[in-house]
Amino acid sequence: MDHPDTSPAVQGQRPRSLFNNWISAIGGVVAAGALFSFSLLVWMDFTQGDKNPYLGILTYLVAPGFLIAGLGLALFGAWAQRRWQIKHAATMPDKWRINLSDRRQRRALALFGTGAVVFFILSAFGSYQTYHYAESTQFCGEVCHEAMTPEFVTYKRGAHARVDCVECHVGSGVEWFVKAKINGAHQLVAYVLDNYNRPIETPVKNLRPAQDTCEKCHWPEKFHGNIDVNQTHFLSNKANTPYHIRMLMRVNEGQPGGAPGGIHWHVSSDHKVEYYASDPKRQEIPWMRVTNLKDGTAKVFKTEEFQDEPPADRIRVMDCMDCHNRPAHVFPTANSVVEQSMAAGRLSTKLPAIKRVAVQALTLEDIKTTAEAPEKISAFLTSKYPQAPELAQTIEEVLRIYAVTIFPERKADWSVYPDNIGHKDWLGCFRCHDEKHKTPAGESVRGSDCNSCHIILSQGSAADMQLMSAQGLEFKHPDGELDDELTCSDCHTGGIQK
Ligand code: HEC
Ligand code: HEC
Ligand code: HEC
Ligand code: HEC
Ligand code: HEC
Ligand code: HEC
Repeated sequence: MDHPDTSPAVQGQRPRSLFNNWISAIGGVVAAGALFSFSLLVWMDFTQGDKNPYLGILTYLVAPGFLIAGLGLALFGAWAQRRWQIKHAATMPDKWRINLSDRRQRRALALFGTGAVVFFILSAFGSYQTYHYAESTQFCGEVCHEAMTPEFVTYKRGAHARVDCVECHVGSGVEWFVKAKINGAHQLVAYVLDNYNRPIETPVKNLRPAQDTCEKCHWPEKFHGNIDVNQTHFLSNKANTPYHIRMLMRVNEGQPGGAPGGIHWHVSSDHKVEYYASDPKRQEIPWMRVTNLKDGTAKVFKTEEFQDEPPADRIRVMDCMDCHNRPAHVFPTANSVVEQSMAAGRLSTKLPAIKRVAVQALTLEDIKTTAEAPEKISAFLTSKYPQAPELAQTIEEVLRIYAVTIFPERKADWSVYPDNIGHKDWLGCFRCHDEKHKTPAGESVRGSDCNSCHIILSQGSAADMQLMSAQGLEFKHPDGELDDELTCSDCHTGGIQK
């Protein structure tokens, strides 16, 4: 690079580059290190990183950021060098130059070179480590701390606590890999800017289809047989009367390898069930179509109110997640979490009406932040049981339950995250299995009477549980006869019963 300011001392020789200075040298090393890390990350990204969205941020934002910073520093060095030359042309224009004939500088340069090599190694090691860290569950759940707390807490107590977040949220394959990258970067930006939704909206858009995630570990043909489900409830009376129910869930009615039947029929390879939900949470389903994939025949069921055709782009093929929509993040209702705690003996059933009081404590309306919960819940419980010896333990337990199921800052709790298995607290199966969906010929959905999904083996008090019926019992509602006009979730909403 030629320049009029080049000092007279070096005239006649090849003029020295303006980049020949210490600042530019540091910039150069940073840029080279970043370029090196970048290449390494891109390589990892393409060879092994097909499941990590956050690696994209590192690869395509952070590493290039350092590259640009390094180049910027090199340019700045050149600029500063030029300024120095002009200002100090007479005295010492070469003060910042790297001069190999100077012994002191040679030594400094050797040191600098060693430093640069160490920096290279560290950046390679750092990228590799960061890559693995970004993929870990800890990163997903803890680094995005505030945003992900509810999902992380609920995940850790679930059946999939040892399945990495990315197994369900990203899965493998180039197309989803790219989608997840874009999404991951977008989420991180939203997180940093603090403008993500509270609660995070569900159903999660762009969640991969179940074939690519769940079915990697569970497969529809797997025969689960019928599953025995036991529930222990307590009534909201003074005595906290227990109410048990034991049911046999008819998950697979067919034989292993034979014709499918039972609850998992929806995902059998012989049929396709499609539906249209008119609301974003997929709770209102006015239209569905069943296609027999063997002979190509199809049946359409509609409600009386909905007689149009659904928009083609909003028809969804039913998969595992339409029932198991909370495989990893269950937000239990206040009602059920209190019952579990009572059944486990952590809330004493000796306290009169503890079921109702504990549910009330969890759903106090004036709690707006996690920090206010202890004071308000304690005050409420103390006012209910001022003399009880179990008071301290009760407060502790209710606070524990609160902390792991209700997240006011994120506005995350059961009331915003319906669980579609069942039908007691949310519509669940009854979104489709009611007597309201009919074919043009007037046929209603098969499997809508009480015994087609489960049979009740026994119910009631501990003594009643001794009597078992293999045929199935009629459900005895603990609060008396049920009105046919009402569905369970009209009254059961997870808090205090309406
Ligand atoms: C077994 C599969 C699975 C695993 C493992 C899993 N998730 Fe999820 N997650 C889901 C499904 C399915 C949904 C969608 C629920 C819906 O759309 O209604 C979801 C939803 C979410 C949501 C949206 C909010 C919500 O509660 O619905 C966030 C955030 C989330 N997951 C984060 C995580 C994090 C962080 C981890 C790891 C600590 C993780 N997930 C592990 C399956 C999984
Ligand atoms: C990486 C493997 C893996 C993936 C992916 C996976 N699961 Fe699982 N799942 C398991 C294992 C292992 C268990 C058994 C845990 C146990 O025995 O407690 C399990 C248990 C379950 C159970 C029964 C336990 C319960 O109470 O919830 C259901 C239902 C389930 N998985 C559904 C799903 C759905 C739906 C998806 C997709 C969103 C999914 N799984 C994705 C490995 C996986
Ligand atoms: C008219 C309103 C109403 C309807 C409809 C209704 N329930 Fe209930 N249910 C109640 C009340 C009130 C209680 C007593 C609550 C208590 O003591 O805590 C109760 C108690 C229960 C309990 C035991 C206590 C508990 O909180 O879990 C179960 C289980 C139950 N109902 C299941 C059902 C099912 C299943 C359906 C639908 C088939 C249904 N209920 C429909 C009002 C209703
Ligand atoms: C129509 C709703 C529905 C669909 C669709 C569905 N399931 Fe299920 N599944 C159930 C019900 C109900 C049970 C019984 C257990 C219960 O009641 O919690 C069950 C049980 C299971 C179990 C055994 C749980 C245990 O406790 O042992 C697994 C695993 C499972 N399902 C995985 C899947 C997978 C994977 C898919 C998709 C290929 C799928 N399910 C599709 C409703 C459904
Ligand atoms: C999106 C709508 C939809 C949802 C949600 C749904 N189903 Fe179904 N289900 C259907 C349709 C449609 C049929 C077949 C109706 C027909 O052909 O008559 C069916 C059939 C069934 C059958 C009969 C299968 C057989 O062997 O003949 C059972 C059992 C069943 N469903 C259980 C459930 C359970 C349990 C849930 C909730 C966990 C559930 N369904 C949720 C749409 C749904
Ligand atoms: C379409 C399938 C289906 C039909 C029809 C159905 N149920 Fe259920 N029911 C379920 C599923 C799934 C669960 C949840 C099992 C679980 O907890 O894992 C359930 C749970 C229950 C429970 C236990 C609730 C609890 O929390 O203890 C009762 C009681 C019950 N059903 C009663 C009935 C009655 C009464 C009818 C008829 C009016 C009926 N069910 C019809 C699928 C069905």
